[in-house]
Amino acid sequence: MDPKAPSESFTEMTELVLPQHTNAVGSAFGGVIMSWIDICSAIAATRHCGRVAVTARVDALEFKAPIHVGDIVRLTARLNAAFTSSMEIGVRVEREHARTGARSLCADARATFVNLGEDGKPCPVPPLLAENDEDRRLAAEAAERRGQRRSRD
Ligand SMILES: CC(C)(COP(=O)(O)OP(=O)(O)OC[C@H]1O[C@@H](n2cnc3c(N)ncnc32)[C@H](O)[C@@H]1OP(=O)(O)O)[C@@H](O)C(=O)NCCC(=O)NCCS
Repeated sequence: MDPKAPSESFTEMTELVLPQHTNAVGSAFGGVIMSWIDICSAIAATRHCGRVAVTARVDALEFKAPIHVGDIVRLTARLNAAFTSSMEIGVRVEREHARTGARSLCADARATFVNLGEDGKPCPVPPLLAENDEDRRLAAEAAERRGQRRSRD
């Protein structure tokens, strides 16, 4: 399989927070944001491996600031690392101020997706082609986390 750069699977998704997306205090409901995170990262995983991949894990999900009704929400997902059949994807959620266009980080997370073959079993993904120091740093950090998780399990 040919290696693929993170830029080939980079995904950007835009949503608008409507009243049906809000919680009891009028900001965006966390479950809705989590669903958008899952969709955005699933698209990046699919772009990398060329198949539908399943969510195995979501780590380090942090809601840093509320998102309000009427806000434009920008989600971005990028491959941090590709292992054998799994991929770690970093997701950022930004709120975009409708009038000024200014963006601020409201949530982020890391998701692990596993590529499934025709038989429904994990199957290999293309290696990740690191194009710059940032790509190499993110891949090394993901490998470190994976190693620590495996030694714990
Ligand atoms: C994810 C799933 C396919 C893994 O199947 P499995 O038979 O346990 O697979 P394996 O133990 O052979 O592991 C396969 C890969 O998945 C990774 N993996 C499995 N469970 C994981 C977890 N909880 N967290 C992170 N990685 C995980 C393994 O590290 C391995 O990675 P590698 O091939 O890159 O080394 C299986 O647990 C599953 O189907 N889960 C439900 C998925 C789902 O329904 N998601 C929600 C809807 S999309």
